Amino acid sequence: ARTITTTSLRALKQRGERIACLTCYDAAFARVLERSGVEVLLVGDSLGMVIQGQPTTVPVTLDQMVYHSRCVTRAAERSLVIADMPFMSYATPERAVAAAARLMGEGGAAMVKLEGGEPLVETVARLTAFGAPVCAHLGLLPQSVHQLGGYRVQGREAADAERIETEALALQDAGASLLILECVPSALAAALAQRLRIPVIGIGAGNRCDGQVLVLHDVLGLTPGAAPRFSKNFLAELASVAVAGSASVDASDGSGVAFGIEAAIKGYVEAVKSGAFPAPEHTLA
Ligand code: KIV
Ligand code: NA
Repeated sequence: ARTITTTSLRALKQRGERIACLTCYDAAFARVLERSGVEVLLVGDSLGMVIQGQPTTVPVTLDQMVYHSRCVTRAAERSLVIADMPFMSYATPERAVAAAARLMGEGGAAMVKLEGGEPLVETVARLTAFGAPVCAHLGLLPQSVHQLGGYRVQGREAADAERIETEALALQDAGASLLILECVPSALAAALAQRLRIPVIGIGAGNRCDGQVLVLHDVLGLTPGAAPRFSKNFLAELASVAVAGSASVDASDGSGVAFGIEAAIKGYVEAVKSGAFPAPEHTLA
């Protein structure tokens, strides 16, 4: 299998094959995800919540993102690794360039991700001019949770939807290679996926995007408390299917496991590729 690049992701979009992305924070999971057909590994700052046990992504530092990026890129051989730029590390174009230099240089990432629209257009142009590919992120912006006053669906009002669309086009024009849309109505996500040349990866944005991303620990049921409604525990689903007798439970054979973490990740990839995930019950509006 060939290495995944911005060019091959664009080709997947053009031929209508959905892109499977998951968050990944270490080498062990990088190997499993890659074997399971996940094309894009996102070293998300969600690691502040799922790995560090913090209440939000805000306290995550650049040093921590560099460390986890390095752990993932040591093991990843062909998938595209995106590293999140942490809170305030891209508050000016100069800071963003310095942060990207570390995430790509020391961390080995092939792309950096930042949250926001219009205020970041100049920053995206600067990064891409110097050879740092950018994944934009619109809709719900978790780093702005204190400003937003909570996690909720974005772009329901016509004016907000219009702003998100304008910002998406501006970020694409500035050179962004990819767009993640989080918690927006599926109609808005579908319209943007159609309108933009670059692939649109959704999370809580319906199944008419060019691809999907979820937090790995939600897919494996490791998130304490209630997981977000748009996510799905694919390991639990596998268990219920196996109990019903329609799948063989054989975790002893490392190559042909029908049950276990790797099978659950493969189930996620298949469901993304077929469009079965997200189903209507995972869609917010
Ligand atoms: O940090 C993260 O996990 C993310 C995804 C939810 C898109 O940014
Ligand atoms: Na993130």
